[in-house]
Amino acid sequence: MSSDTTRATDTTDSAAFWENHYAGVDPQWGTRPNAVLAEVVTALAPEPGSGGGGRALDLGCGHGGDALWLASLGWDVTAVDVSATALERVAAGADAAGLTDRVHPTRHDLARSFPDGAYGLVTASYFHTPVEIPREQVLRRAAEAVAPGGLLVLVEHASLAPWSWRDGHEDVTFPGPDDVLASLRLGDGDGWLTERCHAPERTATGPGGETATVTDNVIAVRRVRHA
Ligand SMILES: C[S@@+](CC[C@H](N)C(=O)[O-])C[C@H]1O[C@@H](n2cnc3c(N)ncnc32)[C@H](O)[C@@H]1O
Repeated sequence: MSSDTTRATDTTDSAAFWENHYAGVDPQWGTRPNAVLAEVVTALAPEPGSGGGGRALDLGCGHGGDALWLASLGWDVTAVDVSATALERVAAGADAAGLTDRVHPTRHDLARSFPDGAYGLVTASYFHTPVEIPREQVLRRAAEAVAPGGLLVLVEHASLAPWSWRDGHEDVTFPGPDDVLASLRLGDGDGWLTERCHAPERTATGPGGETATVTDNVIAVRRVRHA
């Protein structure tokens, strides 16, 4: 684990909220890849090396299900989260899987700082938080981090499961996939190829084993490699 995964001393709201959250979460939660992310990556970036030197960046990695899976495919993964506890669990998972050389848990409050470099694959799965952050700005920065030929994959909630946080709001509305794509401000598309921009349904399983149909926004855009 890199040195910046040590427990945060600057307890920003995000760090405080997510440390408190992960303190009460089973360390096994979220250690498998998200099915939607896995389907998109398998179809569009099946092998490391599409720009960015085989490097992948997973934003808001949580317990690292996506990051560990990407590393198992050969990607060199920078796994970013604001929670030191989550990152400690990612590091433990990488150790158990023999993937420590390809998984780099790295702590950032993405509202304040962003990893350097260009990546062949940048992912953000369910990067949602009740803490107010400049989320669109973070996702635009994520697009900037994509190397020529590389891919940005965003998987987001587009509906609330019955067991989801509501924070007192029953009538939460979500942007559609076109709105999310537009918020990235990729211009008129010049330089980017939209590979996915839709809102598929899936069956989700809640903490008590209950199931419900939910909708995700799935956006995948590739930075065109200019000759
Ligand atoms: C809903 S969880 C999703 C976790 C994981 N991607 C998954 O799909 O299981 C959102 C994640 O974003 C992280 N996060 C929230 N705000 C953040 C911030 N400002 N900077 C970095 N990570 C943040 C949280 O700690 C949490 O792990």
